Amino acid sequence: MGLNSRASHSEDSGQQLAPRLLQWFASHGRPLPWRKTYDPYQVWLSEVMLQQTQMERGVAYFRRWLERFPNVEAVAAASREEILKAWEGLGYYARARNLHQAAQCIVRDHQGLVPRSYETLRSLPGIGPYTAAAIASIAGNEDVAAVDANVLRVYARLFDIDRPVGSGPGRRQVEELAARLLPPGRARLYNQALMDFGGLVCLPRLLRCASCPLSSLCRAARAGTVAQRPLAKVKKKLVCLQRAAAVIVGPGGLVLCQRPAGELWGGMWEFPGGKYGEEGAAEALPSLIRRQTGLVVRVEREIVTVVHHYTHHRVQLTALLCAVVGGEALRGGEMGTASRWVPRNELHRYAFPAGTRKILAHIEAVCPELLLGPQDAAGCGCPSLF
Ligand code: ADE
Repeated sequence: MGLNSRASHSEDSGQQLAPRLLQWFASHGRPLPWRKTYDPYQVWLSEVMLQQTQMERGVAYFRRWLERFPNVEAVAAASREEILKAWEGLGYYARARNLHQAAQCIVRDHQGLVPRSYETLRSLPGIGPYTAAAIASIAGNEDVAAVDANVLRVYARLFDIDRPVGSGPGRRQVEELAARLLPPGRARLYNQALMDFGGLVCLPRLLRCASCPLSSLCRAARAGTVAQRPLAKVKKKLVCLQRAAAVIVGPGGLVLCQRPAGELWGGMWEFPGGKYGEEGAAEALPSLIRRQTGLVVRVEREIVTVVHHYTHHRVQLTALLCAVVGGEALRGGEMGTASRWVPRNELHRYAFPAGTRKILAHIEAVCPELLLGPQDAAGCGCPSLF
């Protein structure tokens, strides 16, 4: 089980792999912005942004981020709100919170210099084995293999590995191969070559074996198993959730709640609400709002239901327009969230998770009057949110 090759074959193909990949990379590597200087701050940022993110989108955020935060000091000096706002839309917000914390460590403990060694990088918040290896090799040319999903796929095919490689023994097998086949002194180029090769040629579904420069070295190509490599692991079951969100409009603006630090989307803002069951969204919402904010509300009408996905969850989120009919001044709720009235012309400063952004986009497109205060019915001075 594992490597479908004679030892001699893996040795032979291993010998030829690095020169062929490096040659391919020299003429086909992507002209990515951080590849001009290999500045460690930029390499770090690119690696964090590219996790779970498509290249084109990552590059667009990377450019915009550098305009706003040109160096590690600028990240360290920003507030968490500013960081989350700049990250808004990229998802997996723990990455942004960790980047912020790590920038503060770097300014405090490393004279503002982003480390280039694997060991030092590993001591920073949010920098796991892959990210440390990628930064150390790409920014510092340190001889460490960086194994991400693209690299796992390339090796699983080249060596026709017949077990899942995402975790466990299959993953360790790839990590050992990657460490052994890394050409000493060439880690910067070799690791990037593997990443680009996985992103441009050895793609998950679209098979380009006919024009692949490594096909003669590829065990899976020879065995006809490319489409089955890497072997899929058993998928987590999809969890479906129903949530209700209250759009509470008043003279002070809209009510927003901040998600507790340490939870999913911690520090981001959303409409108050929560999970509901068979009773339905409109029935459940007033008591959720009372507990969360102290406000007594009456549901006026449904605005929209949006669907969004994260990890293995599917959330159906129903937004209901609510009027305040009593209760106390807003307070931090029992669920650990802080709630506040946000003037409409300040909404653009807040960072929202995807579901909340979908609701706001719908309101802006279909019922923009909800975003107009009584004082600005003739045309609001609110900047567009999107
Ligand atoms: N994916 C993650 N990091 C990458 C990089 N540095 N180059 C190309 N693709 C990547």
